[in-house]
Amino acid sequence: MKTSLITKELLTDNNLLLITCERLAMLHAAGTPNDLMTQIGTGFLKNIFYPGLIASPNAVISAVVDDNESIVAFAAVALNMKRCLRDIVSFQPLRSIWYGFSRVLSNNKLWRPFIESMLLRAPEQSKRTAEILMITTAHSYRGRRFGIKLLSTIDDCLKGHSIRTCIARVREDNNYATRMYESNGYCEVDSITFNGCRWRWLSHKVA
Ligand SMILES: CC(C)(COP(=O)(O)OP(=O)(O)OC[C@H]1O[C@@H](n2cnc3c(N)ncnc32)[C@H](O)[C@@H]1OP(=O)(O)O)[C@@H](O)C(=O)NCCC(=O)NCCS
Repeated sequence: MKTSLITKELLTDNNLLLITCERLAMLHAAGTPNDLMTQIGTGFLKNIFYPGLIASPNAVISAVVDDNESIVAFAAVALNMKRCLRDIVSFQPLRSIWYGFSRVLSNNKLWRPFIESMLLRAPEQSKRTAEILMITTAHSYRGRRFGIKLLSTIDDCLKGHSIRTCIARVREDNNYATRMYESNGYCEVDSITFNGCRWRWLSHKVA
């Protein structure tokens, strides 16, 4: 089993890009079936979110692949959250629809506090703060330290982008993710309660 960092160059082949996005969407949905993006639909993840993220110069994806080059674990990180979201929307052919959709969502009473907290981030956000958007390991590969390995690969990559701090949001009852982050030196800096769940903002100094 090898670990490799997926580069934009590796994804320039359109066929590979489609397969990659499908796999990322599948792992994302299996890892967090109740999160907002999974609820929107795997089609959203496969056709909108991950292609946009891969195209964004403000995002990195690190992945663990098996001997058949199939992704078994990955982490997606925004180097700058606002720019990354803008890149994802701008990448879409019907971008005005997506701008409209994001406005409707941000005016919705239920989602507004969540969206604001996603955009406004933890108090220490700055140009030098990156954020883990998603990290997941396929069920049958869990507990083999791929999560911890991905976090340290991401750290190396962030150093190359002069990022000083990396933040992550984790549900209070997500014990494995919490342990994984804490093993890599992440500490709680803030929290929000949304729809009856408490989410912890964790932060970690990269360099
Ligand atoms: C969180 C997650 C990415 C961890 O992936 P992983 O590759 O299994 O993680 P690791 O093997 O590196 O282990 C991380 C920690 O969790 C513990 N752990 C992981 N799976 C475990 C299991 N099945 N049983 C007991 N402990 C487990 C490990 O022991 C380790 O803690 P330690 O350093 O104290 O030993 C994985 O559980 C997952 O995909 N969860 C669903 C998606 C998710 O919640 N993502 C995070 C929010 S975005």
